Amino acid sequence: MNVAVIGLQFGDEGKGKIVDFLSKDFDIIARFSGGSNAGHSVVHDGKKFKLHLIPSGVLRGKIGVLGNGMVVDLEALKGEVEILLSEGIEPKLVISSRAHVVTSFHREVEVMEDELIGIGTTRRGIGPTYETKAKRVGLRMGDLFYEDMIFKRLELMTKLWGIYDDERVRREARKLHALALEFKESVKNTELWLNAAMDSGKSVLFEGSQAVLLDIDFGTYPYVTSSNTIVGGICTGLGVSPRRIHRVIGVMKPYMTRVGSGPFPTEIFGEYARELREKGGEYGATTGRPRRVGWLDMPLLRYATLVGAVDEIALTKVDVIYGMKNVPVAWEYRCSGENNTYPPYNFEECEPVYREYGGWDSIEDEEFREFISMIEGETGARVKLVSYGADRENTRIID
Ligand code: GDP
Ligand code: IMO
Ligand code: MG
Repeated sequence: MNVAVIGLQFGDEGKGKIVDFLSKDFDIIARFSGGSNAGHSVVHDGKKFKLHLIPSGVLRGKIGVLGNGMVVDLEALKGEVEILLSEGIEPKLVISSRAHVVTSFHREVEVMEDELIGIGTTRRGIGPTYETKAKRVGLRMGDLFYEDMIFKRLELMTKLWGIYDDERVRREARKLHALALEFKESVKNTELWLNAAMDSGKSVLFEGSQAVLLDIDFGTYPYVTSSNTIVGGICTGLGVSPRRIHRVIGVMKPYMTRVGSGPFPTEIFGEYARELREKGGEYGATTGRPRRVGWLDMPLLRYATLVGAVDEIALTKVDVIYGMKNVPVAWEYRCSGENNTYPPYNFEECEPVYREYGGWDSIEDEEFREFISMIEGETGARVKLVSYGADRENTRIID
């Protein structure tokens, strides 16, 4: 049985914690999209690890796959590996030879462009790397073993961007080639490797990054990331048949957060927002930016579970609500005099219509059960996992 875990909001729902919790029952954990823009926190042996490129299951000794749909920054990857090694964890990695490579040029272009575009990206070179992929001038992991090939590709892309510098391109090519040699043993044709592993009975947990509402097609474009974060991304980002994805778990919080710009109809401000942010520790795992916070938005959740093809829900951070008398939930949107249960194409001008749910002080409370029933009723997905703390132990499986 292969299972996918994807985010249902704007990222940072606790996917890393849920993947880590589930990973004990899987042989392989595979990432299929994004790159070091992701920040997945996992508490292991009392320590908090922030994983960006490396799949969360490696902390438990599982094999981590970096699929062709990812964009890989080898400097960042090396840094992550070194942190794990210093903690006595030797990650077992398999990296796709088809994954595109993030270079210092991509990171630099992103900083310049985002000043104008204003998405508030993580500045990890993600957008420009998917851009050179789509433009068919990108550099792939497999190319890095040929220094002249690296040079040619870098020359082409930097000329297209108008930032060509012969000396710098040569230096970058040498650096990337040397870095790639350090990972040579791990670079494989992952689509063949992964399908063969599944044929031989190995189970795979697909680790989503970002979330449905940041998906390049279904998210709040243009304030999105540059890849498909929904389950379809597994097929294109790993070369896996949709028939091999047996169950999809969507991860969500009972409230919402967002990092960077873009619409957020239920956003709250001021003292109340500060309190929620502090209680939830809502600061970016990648950039350290304070996350914008707000209430649960049912039109967006109904949409995300539908488009996300979600079978089951993992509800995280329910302990952040402890002590709150009421939990506001945006039930629908009021747009141009009409009520909408799904977000219309442009919902920036819509007003959320709220309902109040009773707060809870423990996961045994009746109010908490009512909240879960409401989510199940509205999404058609069963809430199967509840997380009430960052540690593995603070997780309840609901049968
Ligand atoms: P991801 O990107 O979806 O993996 O989520 P992040 O790791 O970026 O953000 C989630 C944050 O909440 C991390 O600091 C986790 O350690 C923490 N966390 C995860 N689950 C829980 C939970 O149930 N309760 C609390 N209080 N914190 C949690
Ligand atoms: P995880 O996997 C939260 C946001 C950025 C920005 C937009 C585009 O930890 O949930 P990008 O660098 O991808 O071009 O930025 O998407 N973003 C995330 N927000 N969690 C993430 O990942 C994110 N990855 C990207 O803040 O608004
Ligand atoms: Mg995160």
